[in-house]
Amino acid sequence: MKMQTKHLTKSTMKTTRTLWTLFVALSGASALAQNGVVDLTKLHNYANQPRPAYITRDNTPSNNAITDAGATLGRILFYDKRLSRNSTVSCSSCHEQSRGFGDDATASLGINGSTGRHSMRLINSRFSNESKFFWDERAASLEIQTTQPIQDHVEMGFSGISGDPAFADLVARLTTIPEYRVLFAMTFGNATITETRVQQSLAQFVRSIQSFDSKYDIGRAQANDNQPFPNFTTAENAGKVLFINTPGPGGGAGCAGCHAPPEFAIDPNSRNNGTTGVIAVGTGTDLTNTRSPSLRDAVGPSGQSNGGLMHDASKSTLADVINHYNAIPGDNANLDNRLRRPGGGVQNLNLTQTQKDNLAAFLRTLTGANIYTDQKWSTPFNAQGDLELIILPASASTLTKNSNGTVTIRCSAAEGLTYRFESSTDLSQWNLITTVTTDATGLIDRTVPMPYLNQFFRFTYIP
Ligand code: HEC
Ligand code: HEC
Repeated sequence: MKMQTKHLTKSTMKTTRTLWTLFVALSGASALAQNGVVDLTKLHNYANQPRPAYITRDNTPSNNAITDAGATLGRILFYDKRLSRNSTVSCSSCHEQSRGFGDDATASLGINGSTGRHSMRLINSRFSNESKFFWDERAASLEIQTTQPIQDHVEMGFSGISGDPAFADLVARLTTIPEYRVLFAMTFGNATITETRVQQSLAQFVRSIQSFDSKYDIGRAQANDNQPFPNFTTAENAGKVLFINTPGPGGGAGCAGCHAPPEFAIDPNSRNNGTTGVIAVGTGTDLTNTRSPSLRDAVGPSGQSNGGLMHDASKSTLADVINHYNAIPGDNANLDNRLRRPGGGVQNLNLTQTQKDNLAAFLRTLTGANIYTDQKWSTPFNAQGDLELIILPASASTLTKNSNGTVTIRCSAAEGLTYRFESSTDLSQWNLITTVTTDATGLIDRTVPMPYLNQFFRFTYIP
């Protein structure tokens, strides 16, 4: 019995070492991926990002939890201009990382002119209690939202009407791009591209965009919203009180009634806030806008503008926003009651200049820093706009020890494509051993002599 255990241990150790060698081989990677290289062995952490305990909302549906591979594919789609009819516009054209994934333009430029509303920042979309998207909440979920810009005649042009190609034509286009077949196979188990899969990956990427490194978060970790934050200035703490307290006898500005901390997302029951402009035609009224992005990152890290505010970008600064709420410009049929006076008429807060300044100071504490530069949300393409190398992950591979001492490495991949089988002794210099074409079942495999220590293998695809 003892002997057997010993024997077992010894053989397990040998297998473990072998598998370990191969695993390192297949998962060994350089530090930060360079643009154009999609290293599936070393994905950015999208799925398990730390989130403060006080953040409790999450609109992730049970059938589309974020995975690192799914969000990586979403990132590539998000930055790919080939998702527009004439390959000139990507999601990132109107949702710029340097602007909190918003846009400087009043109306963003699509492939066929200007959008009817101002672009929205995409910060912390995952944590909004209101799970319907767009200013007017016409998309029932983030998944549904993500392919609407593609199917919009003005924005990306696969509308399927008035001579536009349809979404099916985009699917056909993506299917002719081998790297997408490689990436869909890695993410979904086979290379089939569907609208649902495009939606799922884009939504995973958008939901992954999270910001919790603001001055507010540093304070919130140490105190409740109703207590002064130790890291805040007197003005910021006074602004926080104004933001939270109700108007009237409460003496506040009532902002939290619709943009509740700590998410600062919109109250699902909100109606419009009295901003009724229409930018598409320049005149007229639009009473349908009842959603706001999270108020986080309304301005950039140095207090600079991330673009106009409100659906018509009619407010350029936080001061403009505060003046709007201080004296709501006029009533309308869909104005939220919270912005009306109990006795009739619209809200007039009569804030002093100091109160307005304090409120603005508080709003500036909601801006983070990492979101603007972190590589995991930046373009994955190289300077020429291409992907140049995809490294397949160990997780897609199985290792089989053969009786003759060899090892077979089998990797699921996209059918009909030619991959490279490479080896390395230092995990940095990789040499091509041979190319391998996928068989009809979507597998590639290579059998090699039992690897010695410091011998590593991997499969790659060069687009
Ligand atoms: C031509 C500019 C443009 C392009 C391209 C574009 N968007 Fe947008 N995006 C907008 C505008 C404008 C809005 C607000 C539209 C509205 O509410 O009617 C918006 C709204 C959104 C929202 C809603 C946010 C919220 O909180 O409700 C999401 C999410 C979004 N876009 C994601 C994407 C994705 C994903 C893509 C690429 C597939 C994309 N956008 C392409 C301009 C654009
Ligand atoms: C009755 C609900 C309600 C209250 C109360 C309210 N808001 Fe809003 N807020 C909205 C809605 C709805 C929008 C989007 C309106 C639009 O664009 O047409 C919005 C938009 C905004 C925006 C622009 C967001 C962006 O991304 O462009 C800011 C900033 C803002 N609110 C700040 C405040 C402040 C500060 C207060 C308190 C003084 C406040 N809000 C009170 C409902 C409310």
